[in-house]
Amino acid sequence: MGGSVSLIAWLIAGVCFILSLGGLSQHETSRRGNLLGIIGMTLAVLAALFSGEIGGGWIVLMLAIAIGAVIGGFVAQRVEMTSMPQLVAILHSFVGLAAVLVGISLYIWPQANVDYSTAVDNPIMHSHDLLHKIEIVLGVLIGGLTFTGSVCAWGKLDGKIDSKPLLIPHRHLINLAMLVVASLLAVWFVNIDAIGTGLIPLILVMLISFLFGVHMVLAIGGADMPVVVSMLNSYSGWAAAATGFSLSNDLLIVTGALVGSSGAILSYIMCRAMNRSFISVIMGGFGTTGGTLVSGDDEQKSYTSTSVEEVAELLQNANEVVVVPGYGMAVAQAQHPIREISEILKEKGIRTRFAIHPVAGRLPGHMNVLLAEARVPYDLVLEMDEINEDFPTTDVVLVIGANDIVNPGALDDPTSPIYGMPVLECWKSKNVIILKRSMGTGYSGVDNPLFYKENSDMLFGDAKSSVDGILQHLRG
Ligand code: TAP
Repeated sequence: MGGSVSLIAWLIAGVCFILSLGGLSQHETSRRGNLLGIIGMTLAVLAALFSGEIGGGWIVLMLAIAIGAVIGGFVAQRVEMTSMPQLVAILHSFVGLAAVLVGISLYIWPQANVDYSTAVDNPIMHSHDLLHKIEIVLGVLIGGLTFTGSVCAWGKLDGKIDSKPLLIPHRHLINLAMLVVASLLAVWFVNIDAIGTGLIPLILVMLISFLFGVHMVLAIGGADMPVVVSMLNSYSGWAAAATGFSLSNDLLIVTGALVGSSGAILSYIMCRAMNRSFISVIMGGFGTTGGTLVSGDDEQKSYTSTSVEEVAELLQNANEVVVVPGYGMAVAQAQHPIREISEILKEKGIRTRFAIHPVAGRLPGHMNVLLAEARVPYDLVLEMDEINEDFPTTDVVLVIGANDIVNPGALDDPTSPIYGMPVLECWKSKNVIILKRSMGTGYSGVDNPLFYKENSDMLFGDAKSSVDGILQHLRG
């Protein structure tokens, strides 16, 4: 009885997860999507508790859930919006580690329906057992590389590990060798019948997958990190799905496949946004230089700076204004005063819109979340493809803490490490005002020719202070 009720609950939870993903794809429905996800997960946990398969283990389970909920709640309260990408990366690592631990423990303590010792003489049991071991070794392999890859991604996004790609000689050959050895070990593992003996190849597969995850992510360059984040998201889903197969848990299979495929689609979208192929991202080497500071008195590269008064004046005399938010806006938390500026300009009959680059910030949808938080109307927020052709008729573009996403070198300098990445072509407008603290580079460490263009002016300072200053002048 408990089993069939659990099955129905799992089915409803699976539908909730599908609807949740659908909801999260639109601004207007994202809250509902989130709520459906919460309902689905609550149902899934309750169904697991009452499935009758846990027995006395429910006390440990409740204790683990309580500890996890307290830590999760604490972290969620404290995390800054700018640190969300790191948090997401480290959460992916937990999924990977869980897949590894579940895989190994399932092998050491098989479920009741698997008995490796009797399976040898029984052809039906043998194939069942073989399949079970393939599921285990796949879970450990994908989980292992997701675990260490995500820890490295966390380190890179948090600035604890250099964002420059680590390009060691013969790295493709090393990767290939690791893959071949891991496959051979996996074949050895599934062909061992005596219980326990297979632990050696399984642990070796785990160690190689750990190494593979580290090497893969360290070789990927700064500007390719968006793809890494979505790719690890996808891997964590496949690792969960493999675990679902090992545990014969249908909901985990469905959920893992949903996360895996949506992460893969996101990786594809990110690659398209950066005009890169997935394979070339995995091969690494994009955005290879480190951060540089460019001096303003360089003869070849002179720039002009402006003041908040001048920018306020410029805005008041404009008809069309576009705001390009970037990572610096998230750091400065300048989204609220910029929304107020857009409202004041609207009252004066000046149209102000927001242009979003797909890889702006440090997380897919990072800028959309910040603008939604500041209650910027959705119809004023446009994607790159929707707004790029409007720049020639725009009077003022405010580039707030953005850099790589407005770099003209990506289009016209074949020597630029980010050459080929589509960008917001704001330099085609009449005036471009760049709000940042210095002439420093963005995440990819590439100098930005936009700053030296005739129609560009730098407004130096923390973006929040600058935007507050402009707001005061507009109010005055
Ligand atoms: P970036 O190119 O990283 O530029 C951000 C700029 O903000 C910096 O040049 C910095 O200049 C400025 N800044 C920082 N703090 C500031 C503050 N308090 N006030 C004002 N300015 C501030 O950002 P972007 O244009 O948004 O491009 C995103 C980059 O990150 C791309 O290279 C992308 O590939 C990469 N990335 C994206 C993701 C995702 S999924 N979106 C994930 C990982 C990496 P100063 O220091 O001079 O102020």
